[in-house]
Amino acid sequence: MQITDAPLKVTLVVGSNRHGRFGPVVADWLLDLMHDREGLLPEVVDVAETDLPMSFARTREATAALSGISPKLAAADAFVVLTPEYNHSYPAGLKNLIDWHYTEWQTKPVALVSYGGMSGGLRAVEHLRQVFAELHAVTVRDTVSFHNAGASFDDEGRLKDPAGPGAAAKTMLDQLVWWGRGLREARELRPYGA
Ligand SMILES: Cc1cc2nc3c(=O)[nH]c(=O)nc-3n(C[C@H](O)[C@H](O)[C@H](O)COP(=O)(O)O)c2cc1C
Repeated sequence: MQITDAPLKVTLVVGSNRHGRFGPVVADWLLDLMHDREGLLPEVVDVAETDLPMSFARTREATAALSGISPKLAAADAFVVLTPEYNHSYPAGLKNLIDWHYTEWQTKPVALVSYGGMSGGLRAVEHLRQVFAELHAVTVRDTVSFHNAGASFDDEGRLKDPAGPGAAAKTMLDQLVWWGRGLREARELRPYGA
């Protein structure tokens, strides 16, 4: 088996597509952290930029949309999924993007970052853990969450108090990298046949 030091390809999935959404503010903060971290190659899939039918019809439009998404998911060694909380769960558009894919998620780690009102999106995170378990993906233990997210960032999109979220993100990404490297090596050693 070859143990590679190649950078870990991490695809950030931006889970909100709501008109006027807050998601990009959190996504930009996360992406900056990911770019600053040595050994990571970040990529982005934004649900708002995907046009996937809810019917799972393999239309020409769906095929065109998938051509911009699926390769970024397939190539990833690991994922960071950013989700808001809508009615105690995660958005429908994010579920649709997840459900359009299967093998792309398999045997890969998923880190979860959430934001919302009072709950900080923690209920959305716990629901996503169940979904990713079904897809043979592993969610990492530690998360980053923003309660009343709008109040945590200033008008320029900078965190007012970056120390806490920064430390939480470091812990989460440390875990993601450990799992990402480990599972990449495991896939090289033995194809996943479960
Ligand atoms: C339809 C809807 C339902 C929501 N439900 C919750 C909720 O259950 N818990 C919560 O903490 N915040 C809830 N919120 C607040 C959102 O999490 C918050 O506005 C967040 O910024 C939404 O993300 P977005 O702006 O990227 O779409 C809800 C917002 C919407 C639009």
